[in-house]
Amino acid sequence: MTDPLHNEFEPGSIEARDLAHILHPTTNLADLHEDGPTVHTHAKGVYLWDNHGKQYIEGMAGLWCTALGYGEEELIKAATEQFRKLSYSQLFAGKTHEPSVLLAEKLKEMVPFDAGRVYFGVSGSDANDTQVKLMWYYHNLIGRPERKKIISRHGAFHGVTVAAGSLTGLPPFHRHFDLPIPNILHTDSPFYYREAREGETEDEFTTRLANSLNDLIEAEGPETIAAFIAEPVLGAGGVIVPPDSYHAKIQEVLRRHRIFYIDDEVICGFGRTGNPFGAQTFDIQPTTMSIAKALSSAYLPISAAIIPEFMYEPFIEASREIGMFGHGFTYTGHPVCAALALRNLELMEERDVFGHAARMGEIFQARLHSYEDHPLVGNVRGVGLIGAIEMVADRDSKAKFPAAAAVGPYCLKRCLDHGLILRNLGDAMAFCPPLIIDDKELDELFGKFDRALAETLEYVNGL
Ligand SMILES: Cc1ncc(COP(=O)(O)O)c(C=O)c1O
Repeated sequence: MTDPLHNEFEPGSIEARDLAHILHPTTNLADLHEDGPTVHTHAKGVYLWDNHGKQYIEGMAGLWCTALGYGEEELIKAATEQFRKLSYSQLFAGKTHEPSVLLAEKLKEMVPFDAGRVYFGVSGSDANDTQVKLMWYYHNLIGRPERKKIISRHGAFHGVTVAAGSLTGLPPFHRHFDLPIPNILHTDSPFYYREAREGETEDEFTTRLANSLNDLIEAEGPETIAAFIAEPVLGAGGVIVPPDSYHAKIQEVLRRHRIFYIDDEVICGFGRTGNPFGAQTFDIQPTTMSIAKALSSAYLPISAAIIPEFMYEPFIEASREIGMFGHGFTYTGHPVCAALALRNLELMEERDVFGHAARMGEIFQARLHSYEDHPLVGNVRGVGLIGAIEMVADRDSKAKFPAAAAVGPYCLKRCLDHGLILRNLGDAMAFCPPLIIDDKELDELFGKFDRALAETLEYVNGL
């Protein structure tokens, strides 16, 4: 079978068959049919190879997730042993098994808030969908059915399922999908570089955002708002690190109106920002937390929505009435995913991965910020081992390049040519290497980026 739009690949090749059969997620499908897919064949540590034998250094930890890198034998062993012992079991209807119990205990010890119950899922999206449902369920059960609205932020990314996709504040995830659903509101993005007014200081900016959140809550009626959801650092929306005073001011407003805080740690959790959780880096006091990605270093899909005990208590009484807690996935607490995630967290402790990531984070931030004076670079932002370099047409006015110039995609292609995997978010180049990256590998990564950026400058000068 040949692809209707593209037939340059040899018939029967993986590329041609991919183009004929797969619906690719979060992809420019028109470009895909022009350029074809990249086929990865194997990986080890911080390196991946494609089907032409080309080696790449991983600058994005896959999709912000391969914290311990690729091919870690200890994780393969943990999964293999669990497959042999109990390849599947469930948590429905009173059944349980050791891996899920041990993992829930471990997570409750680790998270920086008063965690009561751990609900396992398979993706960050379903964890956030669960958060929305549990907020509605809890408020209905305690006799506050009017507290239904969830406030998210423009520029946020919380996933793509119906509720999580609604929480996401990025237009391509809404357009033609009939999202957002009712009861989801969006407040301002804390993107100082792009959203601050002329002459506004960081402190004035965060005060304005806190006031704007307060105005939204008062206009909607505080008694109608269940929760606010935020990523400590906005990831897919451009790696936006909020100004220092932001989280404190936002939390003050939420506390005043008794609104819960859902902390989406799907990217920031497990060492990414220089501490175990983003909540610690930014002094956030969550009511509930979503985790995924680095929870298993992406060896297997697993996520969790963690809630306090006081939210759980009314669920018990409700079961007497309704007959059950009516929420659960076939793969909630999959024993192999749980055993693997537990071993992943143990390895992080045994090898002091968070300490290592914090030390590498300092080197990484210094290298990232060394591009601040580059003629193409308008803004450098980051914390720990995550960051972005935004390229602009004019550094003084912050003017963007026309989308048609495709400067970000061009830079990405140059990076890939040099064997560096990054991701372009518009014209911002995102960096999020595996937490195990060392100083030599960081040097290699930025050496490749130097060349790609120099070639992008030549391209831009020729426009
Ligand atoms: C902060 C955040 N929340 C949720 C998600 C959704 O996770 P998943 O892709 O596993 O559904 C992502 C994915 O990138 C994310 O970055």
